[in-house]
Amino acid sequence: MTSITVTAQAYAAGARVTGLDLRKPLTPEQIATVQAAWHDHLVLAFPDQDLTAPQLIAFTAQMGEVERNDNVPYYRDPDYPEVLLVSNKPRNGKPSETRNTGRNWHADLTYTDRPAKGSVLMCKEKPPIGGDTMFANMYMAYETLSPVLRDFIETLDAVHDITLIKGFERRDPAQIADMKRANPPIAHPVVRTHPETGRKLLFISERIRNFVGMTEEESRPLLRFLNDHATAPEFVYRHQWALNDVVMWDNRCTLHIALKDFDQSQPRHMMRCSMRGEKSGYVIQPESKDDASLKSALAAVS
Ligand code: OGA
Ligand code: MN
Repeated sequence: MTSITVTAQAYAAGARVTGLDLRKPLTPEQIATVQAAWHDHLVLAFPDQDLTAPQLIAFTAQMGEVERNDNVPYYRDPDYPEVLLVSNKPRNGKPSETRNTGRNWHADLTYTDRPAKGSVLMCKEKPPIGGDTMFANMYMAYETLSPVLRDFIETLDAVHDITLIKGFERRDPAQIADMKRANPPIAHPVVRTHPETGRKLLFISERIRNFVGMTEEESRPLLRFLNDHATAPEFVYRHQWALNDVVMWDNRCTLHIALKDFDQSQPRHMMRCSMRGEKSGYVIQPESKDDASLKSALAAVS
């Protein structure tokens, strides 16, 4: 059996893993090696893995419970609900609804009560140049904040909102109405401890509307600062895709963004599986939002 080689690609995150055939079940030792590399590098790229949808699902299942994507049903592969198609290729004669997926910094499924544990994205077709994905290390983002700001955000919760997916409102109206109903705004802690590494991290995103108990006006400058800080170039790994790359990221301690840095007339077709995350958060009822603005209006006149 060939041995596994793990080669770091950047200081912040990212490693290339060779010596595995992901079409076949991994041994317990191989799984342990992959998991350890994942904890060290957060994003693993496995080159030259020509997987079918069932093989991608089977690989993901060895890393965690496979997500069925019930919160975003329209983007699934019709034959495999576990596989989301992130593609700019027309679907049923219409422009693909996922052609602009991931265009702001985010972690997957944070607008649900189970943000993904990780995701596995496979490149099936790509433009000749570009179509890169960037990943940012949220341990580093947390650790480089000043102690006073770390204390301030320690007990904050942030409201994650599916409508802040960039371009969401331009998608199919009936589908977005359904997805809004299925995914009301939900609050998750801003500082979390990774369940496997025990390290603290910043759980932030550009899909956050406000902090719980703070108005949008109050939240906006802090959110902007935290997002800018968290995605500074020195915390980022940029993946330049090759055909048949399989990239697996830890969705709990990274953010990612899909860049529009390519000729949109060229096909880009990706398959994604996610690992189901732990239950987290609480739904924000519209009334409590009104309460907050009522409170701030009172504060403004008193
Ligand atoms: C995703 C995503 C990034 C990309 O599939 O979750 O954000 O580059 N995709 O396609
Ligand atoms: Mn994503």
